[in-house]
Amino acid sequence: MGRIHSRAMAAKVTSAEAAAEYIHPGDRVGMSGFTGAGHPKAVPQALSRRIGEANARGEGFAISLWTGAATAPELAAALADVDGLDLLLPFQSDPVTRRAVNSGRVDFLDLHLSHIAPMVSQGVLGNLDVAVIEIIGITEDGALIPSTSLGNNKTWLDEADRVILEVNSRQPERLYGMHDVFGDAKPPHRSPIPIAHASDRIGTTTLHCPPEKVVAIVETDQPDVAAAFKPADPQSEMIAGHLLEFLHHEVKYHRLPPALLPLQSGVGNVANAVLAGLDEGSFHQLTSYTEIIQDGMLALLRSGTMSFASATSFCLSAAGIAELETNLADYHDRIMLRPQEISNHPEVIRRLGCLAMNGMIEADLYGNVNSTHVMGSSMQNGIGGSGDFARHSYISMFLTPSTAKGGALSCIVPMVSHVDHTEHDVHVLVTEQGLADLRGLSPRRRAQKIISQCAHPDFRPALQDYLDRASAASAGKHTPHLLSEALSWHARYLDTGTMSV
Ligand code: COA
Repeated sequence: MGRIHSRAMAAKVTSAEAAAEYIHPGDRVGMSGFTGAGHPKAVPQALSRRIGEANARGEGFAISLWTGAATAPELAAALADVDGLDLLLPFQSDPVTRRAVNSGRVDFLDLHLSHIAPMVSQGVLGNLDVAVIEIIGITEDGALIPSTSLGNNKTWLDEADRVILEVNSRQPERLYGMHDVFGDAKPPHRSPIPIAHASDRIGTTTLHCPPEKVVAIVETDQPDVAAAFKPADPQSEMIAGHLLEFLHHEVKYHRLPPALLPLQSGVGNVANAVLAGLDEGSFHQLTSYTEIIQDGMLALLRSGTMSFASATSFCLSAAGIAELETNLADYHDRIMLRPQEISNHPEVIRRLGCLAMNGMIEADLYGNVNSTHVMGSSMQNGIGGSGDFARHSYISMFLTPSTAKGGALSCIVPMVSHVDHTEHDVHVLVTEQGLADLRGLSPRRRAQKIISQCAHPDFRPALQDYLDRASAASAGKHTPHLLSEALSWHARYLDTGTMSV
């Protein structure tokens, strides 16, 4: 029976094409998957073929796709490619879906990742028709063994009318036992979530679904999508260097303990460079309470610098996947995957005192941060978990190179063109130029510090000039702005291809 040890479930095995027939035009479909990990591999492909054929006949077949935060090309991108998506939530990051969203062909809901499960169980997003969930096996009594991400799987299984399972035998069986499945109750029946340390186990190792809801099971044997990390560039290393110096400083002044506090690290090259820097430094017994485990974090666990990591998913390069699989016995009891409602839960983040480190598109003089919208209107990826962590962390840090597009634009601007994280949620900004600790500073002092510490020298004089003139002419002196000019840098870039005058 391979990975399916329940006879009743084994009787439901069918082909991906037959399983995809259970998905109808207009359905809301919740699929597993977070970054490139743990998504269904076969049913979405079969579905996109079917939709492609239907749409070629002019039948107008599209679905609403809800995931954890899946970014695998064979999922949302394959469906967007055949005009099979009406609505997508909550995250995307590949060129095909990005184009579909920014051309207005696909509606996209950019949501805090911890908010989705409660919203779905409240019913505000409508009824979930189908769940398509990758698992790695089914026990004799019908329990479902989760795969390389947990995401929203528990909620999809609880809420969907019909369930399709993909049992992926390519994923290591030894993942069994690394998950902690726990669902928050609906108010007014909630109690405190009993996580006091990143390693606390509060739930079960398996997912559960009433067998009568399972309409089809498909066996697969395909790997996750490997994340592509560029080798650390000098800018990322400089950003990492400033951040590590700051952490050492905070320890020296007893504002952080020697083992720091649980780390949350966003995805990307800068985050990887920070994690690599931590491995070379003098920190020990680090922990993380984060959303994804990427290569840098695996390396910290492997070297022993980090003792435990809690997340909802892996996000690994091909080398990282090979490393995880080869040494899974070593990682097994030091990594825990939780539902994203819990990995990103504000209550737990606040209690543990996480140190949040996330990338951004741009920040303004007062510390407002745009993580999502290029020039205020084009979606890049989505807010992901950055908001869950930024507002509730002990220290909330945002990182970016000081310029983008070959130096044509400044990532420090007079006013951000879209706000994801307000000045109230941003404690520290870091660029390759330096680090601005904004805590305890009034808006005008923040502006001065951001210009001198974070802005690129090419843009510093113009930012200073804006601040000086705004301070003189602004109606209010608390957060001085020249409203007719505040977004002129973006307008100039759109008109001329550069923010420089
Ligand atoms: N204005 C316009 N475009 C900008 C820009 C700016 N100020 N800053 C960066 N960009 C562009 C880059 O040029 C690049 O464009 P390209 O893809 O056409 O080359 C793109 O945005 C990504 O920039 P990059 O420097 O490669 O950033 P990154 O990989 O470090 O990602 C974010 C930065 C903000 C996109 C990323 O951190 C993100 O998606 N954040 C939101 C989600 C999140 O924080 N999740 C964390 C919880 S896991």
